[in-house]
Amino acid sequence: MTPQASSPPGLDEVLAAVDSALRDGRRRLAEAAATPGSFAAAQREVLGKRSALASVNALLGGLDPDGRRQAGAALGAARKELEEEANRLEAVVAEAERRQRVAAERLDLTEMAIGPKTPPLSHSGRGVGRLHLVTQTRDELEDTFVAMGFAVAEGPEAETDWYNFEALNMPPAHPARGMWDTLYLRLGEPGTVLLRTHTSPVQIHLLEAGELPIYAVMPGRCYRRDTPDARHLPVFHQIEGLVVDRGITFGDLAGVIEAFTTSFFGPAIHSRLRPSYFPFTEPSAEFEVTCPICRGEGCRTCSGSGWIELGGCGMVDPNVFSAVGIDPERYSGFAFGFGIDRLAQVRAELSDMRALIDNDIRFLRQF
Ligand code: DAH
Repeated sequence: MTPQASSPPGLDEVLAAVDSALRDGRRRLAEAAATPGSFAAAQREVLGKRSALASVNALLGGLDPDGRRQAGAALGAARKELEEEANRLEAVVAEAERRQRVAAERLDLTEMAIGPKTPPLSHSGRGVGRLHLVTQTRDELEDTFVAMGFAVAEGPEAETDWYNFEALNMPPAHPARGMWDTLYLRLGEPGTVLLRTHTSPVQIHLLEAGELPIYAVMPGRCYRRDTPDARHLPVFHQIEGLVVDRGITFGDLAGVIEAFTTSFFGPAIHSRLRPSYFPFTEPSAEFEVTCPICRGEGCRTCSGSGWIELGGCGMVDPNVFSAVGIDPERYSGFAFGFGIDRLAQVRAELSDMRALIDNDIRFLRQF
């Protein structure tokens, strides 16, 4: 049957119109979702009073009851599908807009207010802020290691006994705990949660995450029950290093320490390793660098030796690998750790470390 131009459209035509409204609607919504700011309008166009769906609806009246039922069902299904699609895309668009807004609104205040060497603003009389000497040192250390191919990782400052001691090969009665048996928190079983005494527990977090190989440094704050003096603060900072891969040797450790030393201090400063003991490394060493003050001549800072002890290091003990389920026959690695405040003290030639936390602006603005 070929309907006349004037006669009302038949069922086939109405169904075809539903079909094309559905297809056009889907396309229109998809396009709008990809074009910033146009989704609300497209939604009205596809589902609103002037939509193709609405005009098809008006055609139903011209059909016989049976045709009306069929076409009505098709129309209802099409509307439902388009509504669902619009809801889904609306959420997608809202999320994209939110992200864009956050990115646009993000103000990097450190860029604006803080430059380590920025001179004070004379007209305000208050001066601009600057990064603390310890923060500057930490940033420089991170930069140096990142340039050597290391990633930077962080861990929590409150740790359980497992991370701070046990997984690091210090079982409950281990004598090495003595010097670190320290600031416990009232959390969980008594004596199980403490403020970390070193950054070494971050090694365990990385090892447990199990993404090998690992080439990472882990800077952060540490706590010990120490009385502040010229060379100790109870709240201080360390940077930890961890490398785990196939076939890592002590030679790699020595090479990394030396490369770091010359890159951080300059070519005149070198490193040396001396046998030592740490529960989580075997063998262990202390690493020393040429005294940056006297350049090895011997001075008060280095007690005339020409060397300054910076930190500890060694090959990751197989017990540490076993504690986290890594096969020590397949993987080997090394670790190191040293104090950032101590390093800042040496480089800035501070006789007393407590100056770092006195908050005397006359002292701080020298750096
Ligand atoms: N965690 C040790 C400390 O606080 C320093 C240290 C020694 C870290 C040897 C290491 C290491 O990673 O291998 O004294």
